[in-house]
Amino acid sequence: MKKPIQLVIGTQWGDEGKGKIVDLMARNADLVVRFHGGNNAGHTVVVNGKKYALHLIPSGILQKKPTVVIADGVVIDPEVLMEEMAVFEKMGINLKKKLVISPRCHLIMPYHKELDVAYENARGKNKLGTTKRGIGPVFADKVSYNGVRIYELLNWPLFIEKFKFQTEIKNKILVAFGIAPIKIETYLPTFKKLAEKIRPMIKDTFTIFQKAIKQKKYILLEGAHGVMLDNSFGLYPYVTASNVIEGGVNIGSGIPSKKIDEIWGVVKAYTSRVGGGPLTTELFDKTADDIRERGYEYGTTTGRPRRVGWLDLPAVKFSCQLSSVNRIIITKIDILSGLSSIKVCVGYKLNGRKIEFSQCGYLELAKLIPVYKSFPGWKEDITKIKTFNKLPKNCQKYVKFIEKYLEVKVKIVSVSPEREASIFV
Ligand code: IMP
Repeated sequence: MKKPIQLVIGTQWGDEGKGKIVDLMARNADLVVRFHGGNNAGHTVVVNGKKYALHLIPSGILQKKPTVVIADGVVIDPEVLMEEMAVFEKMGINLKKKLVISPRCHLIMPYHKELDVAYENARGKNKLGTTKRGIGPVFADKVSYNGVRIYELLNWPLFIEKFKFQTEIKNKILVAFGIAPIKIETYLPTFKKLAEKIRPMIKDTFTIFQKAIKQKKYILLEGAHGVMLDNSFGLYPYVTASNVIEGGVNIGSGIPSKKIDEIWGVVKAYTSRVGGGPLTTELFDKTADDIRERGYEYGTTTGRPRRVGWLDLPAVKFSCQLSSVNRIIITKIDILSGLSSIKVCVGYKLNGRKIEFSQCGYLELAKLIPVYKSFPGWKEDITKIKTFNKLPKNCQKYVKFIEKYLEVKVKIVSVSPEREASIFV
C-alpha cells in the first residue's frame, strides 16, 4: 500500500498545538521534516508528563522510528541548534543516525539578531513584536544574495571570509543605529564547534526525499507558525518571513506539493497570537485571563503572554482554502470547559456592511466588527475522554459547527497536552 505524504499546518497565528500532533503522527513515519522558519517557532511535546520545547529539531525526534530532517527552507541559529542537540544526546538519542540537515539551510548570524532588535526598537510604538531571533534579517539576506549557508561552515577559510565581509557591511548599519559593532572573533568558537558537530549530519536532502517518494515511504511534513503569519497572505507587516502556506513545502524542502496526499489543518478551539497587529476577536476581560492561564498561553520561544480571543472561523477558512486543507485537527478544546457560553466569529462587518476576510487589508481588519454565534458551554472535565460520543453534547455541537463552517472533516480532537489524549473522530 502506498504510504502517504502528510502535511501538518497551523491555520491561525501559530501555537495551535502542532508539536503534539506531529509527535503523535510521527510514530509510524519514516521521515519527519521541518521546512521553514527557524527558532522563532516553538513546538511543545509532552511525553509521560515531561515537557520538551523544540525550536529547530522536528517534533518527531521523540519517536523511535523516524529520521528527522531540517530541510532547505529552515534558518539555523548555531547556538540554539547546539543546545537542542545536547538535550537529545543527553537522552541517549544518536543524532548522527537520527538527524539530517540540508546543506542549503541559511545560518542566522550574530548581526541578524542585532539588526532584528535594532529595527524593532527604531519602529518605536509601531513595532511589530518579532521574536527578535533575527528571522526577518536572515531572510532579507537570503533573497538579496548575502546569506551564509550551513555547508559553508564545512569550508572554514571560505566561511571566515564571508563572515568578515558581511560583518563589515552590517557593522556600518549597526553603528548608524548607535549599536556597538560585532567582533567576529567572539563567535568563531561556536561556529567551529557547530561545524565539527554537524558534518556527519549534512546530507543532500533532495536525494533523500526523491528516494523516499519512490519507495513510497511515509513522510510527515511539520509546518511551523500559522497561515495568518504567511509572508504574502498573512496580515502584512505583522507576519513572519517564511511562506507558511502549503506551497511553502515545495519552496522549503524541494518536495513537490503535488506529492502531498493529506493536508491536516490544526485549529486551536480559540485564538491566540504573540506580537502586534489586528486581532479581531481579541478578548480583554476575565475570560481572556482564564483562557490564558488554563491554556498556558505564553510563548514557547519568548515567554511573552499571548493575546487570546474567540475562534475566528473566517480567518481559519481562508487558511484552509489557501492550503487545500482536507482534514482538521481541533486542539485545546479542554481549555474551554467550564465557560458558561462560548462565542465563535462567523463573519465581519465594516461600516455596517458585511466583508470577507480576504478583502481586508490590516488597517480595515483593525476596524472590523466580528459577528458572533454563541454556544452554551459545558462543565465537565474532558481530558480523560477517549471517544467523540462521550464528549459533552455541547462540546460535540461546537466541533460539528466548526466542521460544517469549514467544510472540512474533523478527524482528531485533542483534549489535553499528553500524546495519548487525542480522540479520533
Ligand atoms: P519573527 O518571525 O520573529 O520575525 O516575528 C514576526 C511575527 O511572527 C511576530 O508577531 C511573532 O510573534 C510571530 N511568530 C513567528 N513565529 C511564530 C510562531 O511559531 N508562533 C507564534 N508566533 C510566531
